[in-house]
Amino acid sequence: MRPSGWLDERIDLRGLRRALLDREVPDRLTWWHTLGSATLTLFLVQIVTGAVLATFYSPSPDHAYDSIVFVERTVRAGSLVRGMHRWAASFMVVLTLAHMVRVFSMGAYKYPREINWLLGVGLFLVVMAFGFTGYLLPWDQKAYWATQVGTNMAGTTPIVGAFLVDLLRGGAQLGAATLSRFYALHVLWLPLFLGTMVIVHLALVVRQGIAPRTNALEDGAPRRTSDPEYAQYYQRAYAATKRSGVRFWPDIIAKDAIVGAGVVVAIVLLALTFGAGLEAPADPTDTSYVPRPEWYFLPFFQLLKLFPGSMESTIAIGVPLFLVIALVGLPFFDRRSQRSLRHRPLALGSMIVALGGSGFLLGAAIREDLQLARPEPSGAVLTSVQRAGRAQFAQQQCGSCHKVRGEGGEDGPDLTEIGVHRSAAWLHSYLEQPKRFHPDADMPSFGPPVLSHQEIEEIAQYLTTLRGPPGVELKPDIHDTFPEVPKVSK
Ligand code: HEC
Repeated sequence: MRPSGWLDERIDLRGLRRALLDREVPDRLTWWHTLGSATLTLFLVQIVTGAVLATFYSPSPDHAYDSIVFVERTVRAGSLVRGMHRWAASFMVVLTLAHMVRVFSMGAYKYPREINWLLGVGLFLVVMAFGFTGYLLPWDQKAYWATQVGTNMAGTTPIVGAFLVDLLRGGAQLGAATLSRFYALHVLWLPLFLGTMVIVHLALVVRQGIAPRTNALEDGAPRRTSDPEYAQYYQRAYAATKRSGVRFWPDIIAKDAIVGAGVVVAIVLLALTFGAGLEAPADPTDTSYVPRPEWYFLPFFQLLKLFPGSMESTIAIGVPLFLVIALVGLPFFDRRSQRSLRHRPLALGSMIVALGGSGFLLGAAIREDLQLARPEPSGAVLTSVQRAGRAQFAQQQCGSCHKVRGEGGEDGPDLTEIGVHRSAAWLHSYLEQPKRFHPDADMPSFGPPVLSHQEIEEIAQYLTTLRGPPGVELKPDIHDTFPEVPKVSK
């Protein structure tokens, strides 16, 4: 007896094959329909590369960083594997989002796929949680400080804030307990959630069939999916799409395989070219380090910067909460039977605002990052505080009135050599309130509420680095004069 016959008799392989592969699938599916399976491919890449990394990784502050260095330098193909894991993580976020946009724009979250949409939203959140927990594991500066900011933000949640921080960090401080927690979440809890949810998600896709192109479910449809006759209409219309349809195997699988293979090749190339990066080991005492989150959290951080400090925590909690509620509520609020975006102006509008807005914020964040990293013409290496000051200098448009090395406005004095003559302390009090120095100074005051004391200090620190035209570095020759403190009459 052939081995397949032997197996078939026991576990009905043929039946399984019929259910999974010999399915009829609606005709004219698009390439956009491959995004979900491409995401699944990446999940498999993450399981394999993650298992390899876990073999060498040591989740303790004393050894985590060294174990990553060991993977990068000593383990054969270790840096490729780690690079793939990092890049596949980014791609997974992008593809999950793209898949959601596809489902949204084809109205595929509508009857009867509401439950699968909810699972999809859950999967997206779990993917983000993977990114957040994975970011800490290398225990370098970037990892430590970004997680510090992230867990601090959870602390601003009303009522449960302190509890959340404690839960995430495993204590008041970010340390060994935090690393153990994040590691356990990253390699045990989250894979368990994601794996289970993916299986249910796919089982529902097999059971309900792939959503067809939109017009197949629009002609002659009842107005709302909640109308009593809609279920019957749907059954008939969906069956019709399958009559002219194709087979899942091999027609659909072929497309999926092409896209999946393309994505894996892209990840290998990116991993070989750029690797995963590793900064200096985490230094909890270096408070001047400017934390940068992983890029897919950047639009959110950029949004926070647009609001004054007092509103920041409201926005930090409010915006994600609103998005999750909107996504979860979507299939229950939107019961109109139209599926094509052409007939859903509100859906089209919200999609453009959400995607355009995030894209714009991401662009702004990246531009700021590049500005921060730009080298000084003098060749001076700036500390992170000085770089932050340089960014503020640009943001406050100091250059519209002041020249620095030949560039800028004429209204104020040239600042090219300001660092030679003035100390940081003098600059700080001057920027805070120029009128205290010269009652008729035309220089605007930058003291609170315009800028915080920290931001003023950053600018002051930056100004002290301006020591002459390009290529010249003059020695400081400070002659500060502070305004007289008004005498207090007795
Ligand atoms: C609207 C034009 C204007 C803008 C904008 C402006 N300044 Fe000024 N700034 C002036 C003028 C005018 C003076 C000279 C005032 C005086 O007579 O004391 C001055 C003076 C200064 C001085 C003192 C120089 C010295 O040696 O006495 C510093 C430092 C300075 N500005 C830095 C800044 C920085 C940093 C910013 C951005 C945060 C900025 N300025 C924005 C117009 C401007």
